[in-house]
Amino acid sequence: MDYYLKQSIKDKESNVLVVGCGNSLLSEKMHKGLQLAKDKLVSIDFEEKVIKHMKNRAVEGIDYQVMDALHMTFENGTYNYAVDKGTLDALCADRSPESTSKVIQYFNEIVRVLKPNGGVYICISLLQDFVLDALVSFFNKGFGNNHSADNTFDFRI
Ligand SMILES: C[S@@+](CC[C@H](N)C(=O)[O-])C[C@H]1O[C@@H](n2cnc3c(N)ncnc32)[C@H](O)[C@@H]1O
Repeated sequence: MDYYLKQSIKDKESNVLVVGCGNSLLSEKMHKGLQLAKDKLVSIDFEEKVIKHMKNRAVEGIDYQVMDALHMTFENGTYNYAVDKGTLDALCADRSPESTSKVIQYFNEIVRVLKPNGGVYICISLLQDFVLDALVSFFNKGFGNNHSADNTFDFRI
């Protein structure tokens, strides 16, 4: 994973969003390993306790914020990369209509905050069959994708 992230995110001036960061050290490792410029890495989670804990670790240069990934407050086109490790897996529990609409809302938010035609969503997932189907359905087939008319999607697994 470290190797893949280093190969993918080469520009130290990139704006990077870690979605559903939890109490994982991923953001810290990315900030150090990718040598991102100051304040270029923002990490969000909707659990206040988790964000408080991460803020207390006081790593300079990472902006931890309490935010629901389904209703993000960032401007359109803010980020070059959105990194998700296990968050889609948490949101996409099964093939139920509830999970499906949550995931579509999530993906639309991810695409909205990414730079159009060039922003990259990196999703690290256990890739259960219904998670893979959700990804293909939205990014490859365009189902529920509100941005497919004004954006091109380079979808790779
Ligand atoms: C499986 S954990 C992964 C945590 C971390 N990324 C890691 O690699 O260990 C999923 C995380 O997503 C967060 N999460 C789930 N739904 C969310 C939402 N709607 N908005 C923000 N965070 C969410 C949870 O609070 C949890 O921290």
